[in-house]
Amino acid sequence: MSDTSPTNPLRAGMRMQRTPEPCTVVIFGATGDLTHRKLVPALYNLQRERLLPPGFSVVGFARRDWSDDFFRDSLLKDAKEFSRSGIDPNLWGSFAEGMSYIQASFDDPAGYAALAVRLRELDEQRGASGNRLFYLSTPPESYATIIQQLGAAGLARSPGNGWTRIIIEKPFGRDLTSARALNAEVHNVFDEQQVYRIDHYLGKETVQNILVFRFANGIFEPLWDRRYVDHVQITVAETVGLEGRGGYYEHAGAMRDMVQNHLMQLLTLTAMEPPIGYRADAVRDEKVKVLRAIRPMPPEQVDQHTVRGQYGPGTVAGQAVPGYREEPGVAADSMTETYVALRFFIDNWRWAGVPFLLRTGKRLPKRVSEIAIQFRSAPLMLFDDGPLSDIEPNVLAMQVQPDEGITLRFDSKVPGQANQIRPVTMDFRYNAAFGVESPEAYERLLLDAMLGDSTLFTRSDEVEASWSLITPIHQGWAQDAPPPFPNYEAGTWGPKAADMLLGKEWRSWRRL
Ligand code: BG6
Repeated sequence: MSDTSPTNPLRAGMRMQRTPEPCTVVIFGATGDLTHRKLVPALYNLQRERLLPPGFSVVGFARRDWSDDFFRDSLLKDAKEFSRSGIDPNLWGSFAEGMSYIQASFDDPAGYAALAVRLRELDEQRGASGNRLFYLSTPPESYATIIQQLGAAGLARSPGNGWTRIIIEKPFGRDLTSARALNAEVHNVFDEQQVYRIDHYLGKETVQNILVFRFANGIFEPLWDRRYVDHVQITVAETVGLEGRGGYYEHAGAMRDMVQNHLMQLLTLTAMEPPIGYRADAVRDEKVKVLRAIRPMPPEQVDQHTVRGQYGPGTVAGQAVPGYREEPGVAADSMTETYVALRFFIDNWRWAGVPFLLRTGKRLPKRVSEIAIQFRSAPLMLFDDGPLSDIEPNVLAMQVQPDEGITLRFDSKVPGQANQIRPVTMDFRYNAAFGVESPEAYERLLLDAMLGDSTLFTRSDEVEASWSLITPIHQGWAQDAPPPFPNYEAGTWGPKAADMLLGKEWRSWRRL
């Protein structure tokens, strides 16, 4: 008989917390910002929560001439600032014991030979048993070289029964051709099962909760289609500018930096069919199906479905800020977009005719990311005492960040003799409901990679399907007349032209 008691963790819907097998994480690009601000603080917090295995080690691999001690000190300095729990000196001491550094350029076989020796030593001295997780945290130009060198040094396979996996940071390619070429390089050396393409949005609690909300509850899914949904708005608004990343951003722009990865992930999780199980391939199969059902934009129609913007000088949170073209590392006549709004249609039975409206930008008035499902209005309005404009359609908004939660808006009678109607909300807030701080996205993703769970990572066909939608947009933009950049003031909600994507005059972008 199956166990249906509430103490059965499966029945209660809980994931058993597991600790990975002993292993070594090798970070390429270990002197960089991502390692210092995100990766090492995330590993430290996993250690603090006793989720790392005994004998866990980190090997940094980078070009700069650093010693092991200098490496540890440099990581500690930033971890003090960026670890969500601060730093406990004793705990850091034992965590840092397993850290070492190899100085080499990424194309130097001698560096990989030294790495092979170091990994064997760690297997013996710290019991890592041949389990290795490589992390590519370098500029993307170096990915192929590192992968080839790992293959040539025999490091793509573990000795004995150990496992070898590789995490690859975004951006994964800059168009469909380069993404395919990179996938081919990767598959020359690693099997797809070994590859973990990271998109840190999938590590956010609120993003994982999209699937739980949709598929662990019975009441929402029947409404989740073209019969009840008018349109979907996905917003990822940032107040920050370039944060010193001008050199990278100039060649990326908002489309490659945010839309191709983070916004497309939010879209697929919102639109996908229920998977046949919560398993990596079952979930990813459904995400790929959504991407393949999105109507591609022929380059000549791109201007009807997309709007680009670039910020000029303005004021954000009371501070005067320079325009994009005045930022360090940016050309004075740059045509890079810092804002994108676009409209997709998903040509399947669930979503036919429902616009998915996406927008993202830097230097907007507020940091806020959300997915809003706007439902159709009631078919007939019975209450006509107040102005019709007081009656707003129902909206279910999933707030990804900050102020994480879910809000349902509906109309309600204002107390009194008149039939006056006003929208009100039902709110769920993570903080109030659970009272615990959510882990950082990188904590969950690093742990999952060590556990061998790739559900929250992007598969090769998924990344190519996403680029096959984005690349024609870039081609369309290249054919169009250049937009009048800068076309929005820093601290405003982007170019006015974005309103034309909404389709019907009574639709509007949400005021957030
Ligand atoms: C990164 C982008 O992937 O995501 C940045 O490169 C952006 O430009 C960042 O600022 C946003 O992430 P988050 O977690 O702060 O929303």
